[in-house]
Order: sequence, then structure tokens, then C-alpha cells
Amino acid sequence: MAGTQVFRGAKLATMTGAETPYGLVRDGAIAVCGKTIEWAGPADALPEQFASAPAEDLGGRLVTPGLIDCHTHVVFGGDRAGEFEMRLNGAGYEAIAKAGGGINSTVRATREASVAQLIEGALPRVDAMIAEGLTTIEIKSGYGLQSETELAMLRAAREIARRRPVEVVTTYLGAHATPPEYKGRDDAFVDEVAIPVLRAAHAEGLVDAVDGFCEGIAFTPGQVARVFEAAKALDLPVKLHAEQLSNLGGAKLAASFGALSADHIEYLDEDGVRAMAGAGTVGVILPGAFYTLRETRKPPIGLLRKHGVAMALATDCNPGSSPLTSLLLTMNMACTLFAMTPEEALAGVTRHAARALGLSDRGTIAPGMRADLAVWDVAQPAELAYRIGFNPLHRRIFGGQS
Ligand code: NIG
Ligand code: FE
Repeated sequence: MAGTQVFRGAKLATMTGAETPYGLVRDGAIAVCGKTIEWAGPADALPEQFASAPAEDLGGRLVTPGLIDCHTHVVFGGDRAGEFEMRLNGAGYEAIAKAGGGINSTVRATREASVAQLIEGALPRVDAMIAEGLTTIEIKSGYGLQSETELAMLRAAREIARRRPVEVVTTYLGAHATPPEYKGRDDAFVDEVAIPVLRAAHAEGLVDAVDGFCEGIAFTPGQVARVFEAAKALDLPVKLHAEQLSNLGGAKLAASFGALSADHIEYLDEDGVRAMAGAGTVGVILPGAFYTLRETRKPPIGLLRKHGVAMALATDCNPGSSPLTSLLLTMNMACTLFAMTPEEALAGVTRHAARALGLSDRGTIAPGMRADLAVWDVAQPAELAYRIGFNPLHRRIFGGQS
């Protein structure tokens, strides 16, 4: 077939959810036409129609779906190394936030940055992720908290997809924190800024989904619900930072809006897990924030498994609680800190991450899926989560292009 390309000599971790662990095909082949996988399976079953297509031997290497980071704040101004130091000298994350630091210190730096500076700042972080096989990244706003800067963050996020071979999914996070000019007037901020700016950003085609931060130091379930109603009116999917530092019933609220995901969820209880299972809401596990904040309360992995809630994994890359740009290290942390299995970890950055973004065209190696692939110099898939600080990526294929 014209324009078709075949990869042979590949050990495929198809991640299709089939019975075999990792959906493994030991001696596999993949036929790619343009940006799409036409066929994938055992090499000896490659259909006749692909026999004359140009073929490349991958030397027995492991091939997985391209990695997907479904929760990042990779666009921001400044850094918070000073705050990291303060925490290690005894100050708490919530205390720093209440004293005007935390998210609001990044808000100050982000407001001072131009779109060009935001892009330049984010690209090295995105490049580090691409170097580990990333092919799709979600990027949130939420450090502007005023019209101009929220829009600037989202424009920067869209521009990253033009500057690098990576797909970007944007999320509007206007309800991330109350900025200083609205201190003590959270409700007014939600109604006068978070919701109107959502409408403006949507009108400019900048928003793929809507997020909020439901927490004692952020917004109440009632305030988040108002933002979600506005999202619903625009036909935008929602997701929520929920149950990170306490249990306000955020996951349940998110599920009641049919949310794509509830993220962090360390304090999630069984009621919340049931609600997520009923709504098909993905649980996004963020070990980078747990690790950085030296939290001790772990997400209820056992309950999520018991109720069949899909678990995704993401870096939560942000300057405060998770200055992490490695999905491989995220996988390792999820296994070591939360006892997720290496297979769950890989599903968390492929199939389930795609689901957390509402994308049904990626995250597995199967006919009809985007040809986003990562080729690894490893003998078995468990090695991806096993190593600490070692990058075995051999090559990345993005939309069929090497
Ligand atoms: O996902 N939890 C809220 N938002 C970010 C932290 C943002 C920050 O501290 O700058 C998070 O951890
Ligand atoms: Fe986050």
C-alpha cells in the first residue's frame, strides 16, 4: 500500500487491556499509514497487503504507545526553589500559601512574563519529557488568575504544539487560587474572573477542558460547581484537583458532573471511589507532589482497584509542589511509594492517561490509533518503572514520523 511503513522485530507492549500482561506480543510488527496504525500484531500474521511495504527492523526492542502526561502546569513564570528551601527549614506548604507564597508567588512571576518568555521557559521542560518518549501533554493555565495572563498561558501552551513534535491538550484552571486583589472575596473572584475568563478563553479556541482546585486553601465544592456549570454550558469536559490535602468531597462532586478525572486524591474515601467508578471518572495519581511535599497519606490504590476505577499517572509538573519533568521517574515513584504494579504504571501513562484526557485515538497500539510510539532499549516492560534516573528511550515515533 502506498505510503505505508512497516516496523518489524518489535516486542510490542500494546497496552490494549487484553488478558496477556501489557498486551505483550513478543515478535511483533506494526503497519503505519500516514499518522495512523493500520495493523499491529505477531509478525508472522502480518497481512499480505503489507508484504511489499518498506520495512524497518527494530532489533527486538520494546515498543510502547507514546507516553502521555495528562496533568501538568508546565507553563509558568519564575521558580520556587526558595520555597523548597523554606519548607526544609520548617515552614509548611499550606502556611506558605496562606502567607502569600505558594501558588500566588508563581502568579506574580507569571503575570510579569510575556507569552514569548512563558514559551521559552516551558520548552526545556517539555523537551526533557519528549526525550523520555512523551507524545501528548496536557497543559493547564491557573497562574494568571486575571484575563490577560490566563489567556497568555493558554496561548503559550498552544504555541508549544507548533514548536515541538508533541500534541498539546489545554485545560483552563482559573479556579486555582484567589489572587491577592481578591483576598477574602473568593466568591467574587469565581463570578467576576474565573467564569468570565473561561468564556473568553473558550471563544478564542484555547480551552479543551476545565479544572479547579477544591481544597481548604483554594475553593469550596459550591464554588467549583459554579465553574463546572459554566463549563457544561460551553460543552467542555471537567476534571478536578480533589482530596489532595483534605477530604471536601471534591471527587464526588466531579463525578456528579461526569468528570474526565479526579486528580491527587490522597484523602479520597470509598464513597468518593464509588462515585468515580459509577461516572467512569479516571483517578489521576500524582506521586511527584506527594513526594515533594513529603506527604504521608497515600491515595487509596486498593479501593480504586477494587471498584475498577482506571488509574492514570502524571508528573503534575509545576514549580511548587512537583518540579518533576520525568514520566519514567513518576512511574517508579508510583510503584515504590504507592505499590502500583509496573503494568499499572505503564497503563497510567498510556491507555488510562488518554482516557483521562477524553482521547480515544491514542494510548494503545492497535489499528486506528495514532502512530505515536516509543521504542525502548529494554528487554522487558517492567524495566521502564524499575530504573531510577536512567532513560532507555531509543527513539520516538510521533504521528508516524521519526
Ligand atoms: O497540582 N494542587 C494544586 N495545584 C498544583 C500546585 C501548584 C503550586 O503549588 O504551584 C498541584 O499540586
Ligand atoms: Fe496540579
